[in-house]
Amino acid sequence: MPTPAETAINSPIGRQTPRIDGPLKVSGKAQYASDFPFPGLLYAVPVEATIANGKIQKLDTSEAEKMPGVRAIFHHGNIGKIFRSVLGKGMEGICIERRPAFEDDVVSYYGQYIALAVADTFETAKAAADAVRASYTKGKPNVEPDLEPDPDPNVVQTTYGPERRLQSERGDPEKALASAPVKLDQTYVTPSETHNPIELQGTTAMWDGQKLTIYEESQAIFNMRSVLAQMFGLPEENVRVITKFVGSGFGSKLWPWTHCALACAAARQLGKPVKLVLSRRMMFQTTGHRARTQQRVRLGATPDGKLVALMHDYVYERSMLDDYHENCGEATAFQYSVPNLRVKFGRAKRNVGSPSDMRGPGAVPGLYATESAMNELADQLKIDPVQLRVLNEPQIDEHKKIPFSSRHYLECLKAGAEKFGWSTRSPEIGSMKRDGLILGWGMAGAAWVAARFAAQATVELRDDGTTRVACGTQDIGTGTYTILAQLAADKTGVSVNKVEVALGDTSLPEGPVSGGSMATASVVPAVFDAAESAIASLLTIATTTPGSPFEKRKRDELDFEIGRVFLKANTSSEGVPFADLLRRADLRSVTGSGKSADTFEEKNPKFSTHSFGCHFVEVIWEPQIARLHVNRVVTAIDAGRIINPLAGRNQIEGAVVMGIGMALLEHTIYDPQNGAPINSNLADYIVAVNADVPTLEVHFLDYPDTVLNPLGARGIGEIGLAGIAAAITAATYHATGVRVRELPIRIEDLLKSPVLS
Ligand code: MOS
Repeated sequence: MPTPAETAINSPIGRQTPRIDGPLKVSGKAQYASDFPFPGLLYAVPVEATIANGKIQKLDTSEAEKMPGVRAIFHHGNIGKIFRSVLGKGMEGICIERRPAFEDDVVSYYGQYIALAVADTFETAKAAADAVRASYTKGKPNVEPDLEPDPDPNVVQTTYGPERRLQSERGDPEKALASAPVKLDQTYVTPSETHNPIELQGTTAMWDGQKLTIYEESQAIFNMRSVLAQMFGLPEENVRVITKFVGSGFGSKLWPWTHCALACAAARQLGKPVKLVLSRRMMFQTTGHRARTQQRVRLGATPDGKLVALMHDYVYERSMLDDYHENCGEATAFQYSVPNLRVKFGRAKRNVGSPSDMRGPGAVPGLYATESAMNELADQLKIDPVQLRVLNEPQIDEHKKIPFSSRHYLECLKAGAEKFGWSTRSPEIGSMKRDGLILGWGMAGAAWVAARFAAQATVELRDDGTTRVACGTQDIGTGTYTILAQLAADKTGVSVNKVEVALGDTSLPEGPVSGGSMATASVVPAVFDAAESAIASLLTIATTTPGSPFEKRKRDELDFEIGRVFLKANTSSEGVPFADLLRRADLRSVTGSGKSADTFEEKNPKFSTHSFGCHFVEVIWEPQIARLHVNRVVTAIDAGRIINPLAGRNQIEGAVVMGIGMALLEHTIYDPQNGAPINSNLADYIVAVNADVPTLEVHFLDYPDTVLNPLGARGIGEIGLAGIAAAITAATYHATGVRVRELPIRIEDLLKSPVLS
C-alpha cells in the first residue's frame, strides 16, 4: 500500500498540467457552437434598429421577401409566441433583457432587433436583412454620460432579485467624516466597456416535434435551458443545450440574449434548423457591456493613517429594459477596517443595450474607485500606500461580522512589494528615472468573492483502466476540461490523459455556471463525492465477485489508493488495479454519482469567503513625446489552493492584460445623435494587444481554504482584474503628476503633465 507521500506524488493536483483540450484546439478539431453542420441548415441575420428611442412606424419587407433563396422575414407579426421568463430558484431563469424580441413596436436602444431574415445561405440572409426598410417615430435618445440617479425606492428589483440600495451601514459615517482630521472626497468614473470575446455569439436551433435542441456558446447551459423552456412553453426536459467549447465570454455569454430566442422561434416557424451568428457590431449592441459608473468616495482618517469613515455612493447606467445591478460596493464594506461606513447605490436609465456582468462585475469598477481613493489618501498623508493598507487591516469581515475563512492580504502586499522592489521607491512625482525616461510606480489591492454553486457529477471507473467524469458545466477557455480531469485523476489514481471528460451538455448531470470565478470551487466536492461513490461500489464488487482476491472480505477491510484496491492489513501488498476487479466481475464499468450544495443558501455562515490580491505596476513616461506605457506588473494572489498553476497563471495574466486595456484603452462610446455605440468594431474599440503587454509576474500564495471544498480551491478567473486599473492610475500619477479619475487615461489627460519637456 502506498504511503500518504507516495499517494500525493501520484496526484496531479497543484501540478502544472497542460490543457487536455489543447491538441483539439490547435488542430482545429474543437467544434465551437457555430461549427456544427446540419442537413438543410438555414441562416438567419437580424435587422438592427437604427434609432435608440422611438417606435417602428412601418416595416417594409416586400423587397427582401422576393429575393431568391429567402425563406422568411420574421418580425412582430409572424415570429409566433415567445413568452416571458421569470427568475426561479438558485441559478435558474436568469435573463437580463426580459422583454422577448419583437414583443412590440417599441425601440429602446440602438441595434435592437426589429426583424430577422432567414435564407438558404448566410450571404442571401445578409442581403435580405439589408433590404428590409424601417421607418420610425423618433424620440431623442438618452445616452447622457453624466449619471444623475433616477428616483428609486429603497429596495429595487434586479436581475438577481431584490436589492437594498443602502447596501451596508455601520457607525455614524456622516458625523465621523465631518470630524475627521484628514478628509478625501473624490468622484471616479468608469466607462462602458464591451466584453469582446473573440468567438462571436450565435445560436443554432432545431426542433424535433416539441423538443428543442440548441448549440450555443453559453457560460450557463442549465440556465439557458430553463429560460428557453419558459419562453417556448416547454417542459425543461424537452430542451437540450450543447456547448462543447467557448471562445471566451468574460460574462457576455452568461445569460440568454434576444438572438437565442429568435433563432429558436425561426426554426420553429420554418421546421428547419436555423443558425444565427452575430456580427462584431451586434456584439456591442445586444449582448451586454460593463455599465458606466460614477462613484463618489469619501474617506476620513487620522493623521497617522487610521480610517475613521468611508462612504461609497455610486451610480450606474442601466438600460430601459433591464434591472441589471452593477454591484460596485461588492468589496467596499469588508476590505478595510473602518468603524463608520456607508455603501449606497443609485441607477440611471439610458437608451443603451442592457449592461451585464463583465469579468469581475461590480468589484472591478468598485475597487478602481476605492483603491484609487486609498492611494490618494496615502499621498495626502505622506504615508506609503502599502503601509496605509497594513494600518487598516481588519481582524474580521466588519460587514458580516464573521471571520474570514482565509485572508492573507497582508502577505500578498509583502510578497508583491518584495518581488517588485517597492522599498526603493522615491515618492516624489517624476523623481524616478531610467535611461532618460521617467518611471512611475503604483500599487493597489484586490478582492473577489469566493463561493460555490450547486453541482452534480458522475465518475465512471472502466475495465480498461480509464475513467470518465461527466459534469454539465462549461469550459469557457479557462481550463475546466483539464480541472475535471485532474480531479477525477486525483481520486481514481489514473493519469490525467486517461480521463475522458464530458461537459457542456444539459443531458449530463447539472453542473455549475462558469461565472463568478466559481466553477472550479463548485465542481470539486461533487466530483469527489461521485468518485467516492464509484469506489464504494467497486469495493462491494471486489468483496462479492466469486474468485475475486478480496472475496468474502468486508468492505471496510479494503482501501483504495492510486487506482488499486488493497487489504488494509497487508501493508506490503501491491494491490489489485480496479480494471482487474471489473474484468473479473465481467463489468465494463462502475459509475458513481455525486453532488454538492451551493453556499448561498447557508443561513448563518461561519466564515466570510473571499480571494485577495494586489498589483504593483511600473509605467514608463516619455515626456518628450507624451507616451505612457505599462512596463512591468507584479501580481500576488491569495486564491486558496491552486489546482493547476499553469491555467491559474494564464487566468491572472489574461486579467492583468484586460486591466491594462481598462486603464488605458477600452471605452465604448455612444453617439449622442442616434445612440449608437460608434466604435463598435475591433479597429476603433481598442483592447490591449501584445505590444501593450510587458513582462507579467504572478505569485500565488497557495493557502488552501477548506471552508469551500476539500481541496481548498477558491477561484481565479476575476480577481486578477480587480485593482489593476487603480495601480496603473497611481503609477501614472507618480510618473506624470496627472491624477486621472475617469477611465481610460487619455493622451489629452497626459498632456496636462507638468513633467513634459
Ligand atoms: Mo464572469 S462576469 O462571472 O463571466
